[in-house]
Formats: sequence, structure tokens, C-alpha cells
Amino acid sequence: MATCISHSPADTEALGEGWGRTVQSGLVIGLCGDLGAGKTELVKGLARGLGITTRVHSPSFSLVNIYSGGRLTLFHLDLYRLDRREQITAAGLEEYLSPAGITAIEWAERWFDLVQSPTLSTHLSRRSQTKADHAFSKPLRWVQIETLGESERRITYEDFGA
Ligand SMILES: Nc1ncnc2c1ncn2[C@@H]1O[C@H](COP(=O)(O)OP(=O)(O)O)[C@@H](O)[C@H]1O
Ligand SMILES: [Mg+2]
Repeated sequence: MATCISHSPADTEALGEGWGRTVQSGLVIGLCGDLGAGKTELVKGLARGLGITTRVHSPSFSLVNIYSGGRLTLFHLDLYRLDRREQITAAGLEEYLSPAGITAIEWAERWFDLVQSPTLSTHLSRRSQTKADHAFSKPLRWVQIETLGESERRITYEDFGA
């Protein structure tokens, strides 16, 4: 698990940009944090690091935006409008958990019942033993962004799966 403090939107983007340069195809990035935490900022950086030049904005009317033209395709999901798990399961988004590219999911905690580390690790290892639970056998980066002040954010992340 890694933690860093971001002091500006540019800091947060830079973190995402670094990930974009190095991530490997198949990774799902789950982003948790309140409205205005900086989830979309992080995805903007991720897109830039992947070499995507299109402007990134949250998928408001669709549930997913797909950005190609970079080193890997980026699937950007935002579950903000799906506040009940049944809505999420009914939306047929499972295919994005095995992306031919990278999937970034804002409000990922609405889909996956994961709570803050260190409970998270125990929770995941327990769940991954359940055969029915496909989601967690995939490479996953679980990211939490907490708002500490007007422009300060604590960003915590941990990788799971192969
Ligand atoms: N350190 C920071 N990291 C990210 N965003 C920040 C930071 N400080 C201030 N902000 C501001 O917070 C807002 C984050 O917005 P956004 O990324 O859309 O949030 P979310 O997608 O989590 O709702 C932006 O207006 C951004 O300028
Ligand atoms: Mg957002």
C-alpha cells in the first residue's frame, strides 16, 4: 500500500500520468472518494500518461467513455448515478472488468464492497476464495482519495491480483 499527499490538481494528475506510462493491459483501477476529491483529475493524468490527447471528462450521460489513440485503450466508468448495486449489476458493465486496455472506475465502492485498508486486504483475500467472485481475481488497483483541505488530498492505493 502506498500513500501520498497531493498539494494541487497538477500533483494528482502527475501521479496518474506516471501510472499511465507504466500500467499494463488488463488493469482495473477502482477510484473512491467524495465528490470533488479528484478522481477525474487522476484519470486525466492517466490518459495523458497513456498518450491519449482527447480531453477527458466524466461520462455524465453515458456510463462509460472510451478513449483510444494512446498506448492502451482507456475505459472510463463513472457510477455516480447508479447508487444502488442492482442498478450497477443491471447495467451490464462486467465486461469492463477484463479490459483490453485499462479500466478506471469512479465511485468504485458502489460496485465493490470494499472498505478502507487494512481491512481491505483481509476482505479481498477472503472474497477471492469464492469462485463466483470473478472480479477480484483480476489485477486491481484500489485507490482512495481523501480531501484534507482546499487543495490537499491524501491518495492511498494498493494493488491486488495478478
Ligand atoms: N490536490 C488536488 N487534487 C485533485 N483535485 C484538486 C486538488 N486540489 C483541488 N482540486 C480541485 O478539486 C476538484 C476535483 O474535481 P474532480 O477531479 O472532478 O473530482 P471527482 O471526480 O472526485 O468528483 C477540481 O476542481 C480540482 O481543481
Ligand atoms: Mg469525477
